[in-house]
Amino acid sequence: MQLVGPSLTLRYATAADAPALFELGSDGEVTRFFSWGPYTTVAEPAGYIAGLAGERERGDRVDLLVVAHDSGPIGVTGLSELSRRDRRAVVGTWLERRRWGTGANEESKALIAHLGFITLGLERLGAYADVANGRSQSALVRLGFQREGVLRRWHRHGEQYRDVALFSLLREEWERSRLAEVPVLVHGDPPPSFRLAAAPS
Ligand SMILES: CC(C)(COP(=O)(O)OP(=O)(O)OC[C@H]1O[C@@H](n2cnc3c(N)ncnc32)[C@H](O)[C@@H]1OP(=O)(O)O)[C@@H](O)C(=O)NCCC(=O)NCCS
Repeated sequence: MQLVGPSLTLRYATAADAPALFELGSDGEVTRFFSWGPYTTVAEPAGYIAGLAGERERGDRVDLLVVAHDSGPIGVTGLSELSRRDRRAVVGTWLERRRWGTGANEESKALIAHLGFITLGLERLGAYADVANGRSQSALVRLGFQREGVLRRWHRHGEQYRDVALFSLLREEWERSRLAEVPVLVHGDPPPSFRLAAAPS
């Protein structure tokens, strides 16, 4: 499966992408609010990529490489915490620093929101941001996500517990947002484990 927008494509990472992901994820500014990283060896992104197919098959996570048409891989976005019953999932994104503030986040979110709301038929996209990650929180709000509150001690980074702000974008909010105006082409099918049953009529 691939999602193609005006300047970015989302596609599955392959083993050949490990060196590029290593470059992108070895910046401590980029991984500052994550439980992983910065990468110190290429074996780390290689191991991450090797686990992705199983995560897709189990319905745990669908992560996609964000690839710029003019330069190649620039980051990762994905859906996790899928609830098929409740028709929701959580979106997470990271981009190399030189792409921050360029609109790449908006287009990548438009592509992943299309996957969530159109291809998969979700009703809600959630998002988490560390309470100290002001940039991520502002980026979500400017795209139409609403801040719902704070989840206390939600993430463990090493032995440190982190409070996390919770955001969401509902289907009708997405329909009214700029994200829904971005043209998206979908090639291929989503992972079977992510396909939802048709809504009862
Ligand atoms: C989160 C991320 C994908 C957002 O993409 P981005 O291109 O940086 O986002 P944008 O530039 O569109 O929006 C960021 C907003 O935060 C603002 N901002 C910057 N620093 C800020 C701070 N310390 N506090 C609050 N707002 C801040 C910017 O001014 C901008 O708002 P504006 O467009 O209204 O001026 C990107 O920064 C990233 O990859 N960060 C590292 C990984 C990460 O933290 N991912 C999120 C995990 S929850």
